[in-house]
Amino acid sequence: MFPSDFYWGAATSSYQIEGAYNEDGRGECIWTRFSHTPGKVRDNQHGDVACDHYHRYAEDVAIMRQLAFNAYRFSISWPRVIPTGTGAANEKGLAFYDKLVDSLLESSITPIVTLYHWDLPQALQDQGGWANADMLSWFADYTDLMTRRLGDRVKHWTTLNEPYVVAFVGHYEGRHAPGITDLVTAYRVAHHALISHGRAVPVIRQNVPDADVSIVLDIWPSHPNTDSPEDAAAATRFDGYHNRWFLDPVFKGTYPQDIIDWVGDKLRGVDDLSAIQEAAAPIDSLGINYYTRAMMTHEPTGDFQMRRVLPDETMPYTKMKWEVYPDGLHETLMRLHREYNVPALYIAENGSAWDGDEVQGDIVEDPRRVAYLESHLAAVERAIADGAPVVGYLAWSMMDNFEWGHGYQQRFGIIHVDFETGKRTLKRTALTYRDHILNVTGQML
Ligand code: FCB
Repeated sequence: MFPSDFYWGAATSSYQIEGAYNEDGRGECIWTRFSHTPGKVRDNQHGDVACDHYHRYAEDVAIMRQLAFNAYRFSISWPRVIPTGTGAANEKGLAFYDKLVDSLLESSITPIVTLYHWDLPQALQDQGGWANADMLSWFADYTDLMTRRLGDRVKHWTTLNEPYVVAFVGHYEGRHAPGITDLVTAYRVAHHALISHGRAVPVIRQNVPDADVSIVLDIWPSHPNTDSPEDAAAATRFDGYHNRWFLDPVFKGTYPQDIIDWVGDKLRGVDDLSAIQEAAAPIDSLGINYYTRAMMTHEPTGDFQMRRVLPDETMPYTKMKWEVYPDGLHETLMRLHREYNVPALYIAENGSAWDGDEVQGDIVEDPRRVAYLESHLAAVERAIADGAPVVGYLAWSMMDNFEWGHGYQQRFGIIHVDFETGKRTLKRTALTYRDHILNVTGQML
């Protein structure tokens, strides 16, 4: 059974939905720069307009209300509120988030605010971005500004979304802005991001004494592709590289020794590994983003000698080539409860992209997304029954949006967006989700 005070809603992020990229004084962000660089994003698409949520937020909040949400997770665009990342704030940008928060509260929807979901001000990237140790104070100052401004109304604060992706997809694989491909830099970035999180926690508490403070991590349960000891080791290594490198700092203040040993000299960009203890400032809850699991195999080459495989082409894979594996969500929630003793957990993102979303009149029939939602909600319910302290579920995503390097091809929304006209159309998933919420809360619309 889901608790009666459970948070039900959906999630988005600023760059993926807002648009209005150069309006009302917004500064340039690394995703604007990256997506305007030919060849970086599929079909050279960008978030200049995206869902135009900046102008349509009232309509979007009205839809959330129709869907019986009592929570909404969104992020602040740092360059919208401080155009060059440090220094003078932009009143018009701040006013946008005032209006958004007020309209959510008028609709009895709890705002869950993420401070950093990847749209770093380009002016800070020009000074090295997350690789620059000054990021620790820049991020603290930005956190201070936002929590002072919104803290009378916003009580749920998340520091970072997926520092793994910030560090390793942005600075090692280079598939995300700023597009750097250097493992030494990636570890330095991860270190600064984790400590920035730790230092932001007391800033939030100072300004919002009754805050619920969290970080959002993407957890991929890691399984060996065969029974071989090499594949088992590869799975443990991926877990260390992707999951424990972030979980251990946040909950224990240490890095996992097996990965320190494996990576060796590539950690040379980290001035003082033991400074990671600062990442363990106590938090109130952990947001997890869960999409799929990783099936791992040993590979003789490469920095980590491992590779993710798609073991069985007959399995259901989403358009992202992510296996539909709801048991992994149960496994993850139980693990965080048992191994990390996390005080409270919420699903900050969970969802799927498929081909074939087609508007037919006023609905999009999307049976595979419906099945994905239902099977994952069932996994969450099982974890609650097994004792995991889960307090909320936020579907990814409220609406189709700019899916980073994939552009607009990957539609994760429970609401369809026509990117030519901006028109929103409910998908069957949204209605199924609404009925589920009404059913478990006993609410009437
Ligand atoms: C997560 C991101 C989110 C979205 C989903 C599909 O890694 O946090 O912005 O891209 O994946």
